[in-house]
Amino acid sequence: MGSDVESIDFTLMDPVIETYRGQPGALIPVLQKAQALYGYLPPQILELISRRLNIPLSKIHGVATFYAQFYLERRGRHMLKLCDGTACHVKGAPALLNAAQESLGAAPGQTTADGELSMEIVYCMGSCALAPVAVIDGQVAGRMQPDTFLRRVRKQVGTAEKHAEEVGHDGHGN
Ligand code: FES
Repeated sequence: MGSDVESIDFTLMDPVIETYRGQPGALIPVLQKAQALYGYLPPQILELISRRLNIPLSKIHGVATFYAQFYLERRGRHMLKLCDGTACHVKGAPALLNAAQESLGAAPGQTTADGELSMEIVYCMGSCALAPVAVIDGQVAGRMQPDTFLRRVRKQVGTAEKHAEEVGHDGHGN
């Protein structure tokens, strides 16, 4: 039954639920464990937590969406964080965002259709001297221009190149 449930193995949650059942303040650690197990928080898992810990689903959604550490969508194999804090914004973050959207098909808070790249916008990474800053799979890339930025991301992602070719270049950015 439940063939639409893809390959989520619900039993992985059993020991987590057992450990935290009845404990006050269990929700956040349970969500953290669930995300560690599945890579993100699938809706079916949120429902399971709601049922088994007897916490209203609306409360779970509230917590999961409030904290930036939680992901409600499947994440890509690669993670791109673009800083749009004040310093980075002034130094050209919007151009990087534009490049990511146009050339890589990435969108804030989303994952590319091929499942390779997730992007999120952050606000100050404490590296303002390197603005504008992007973090690609945990590696800080500073003083990025759209072309160097795209090269850097593509090198990391590899297959993003394919998508860029499909999209093609309408504008003459040079
Ligand atoms: S504003 Fe981007 S690192 Fe500080």
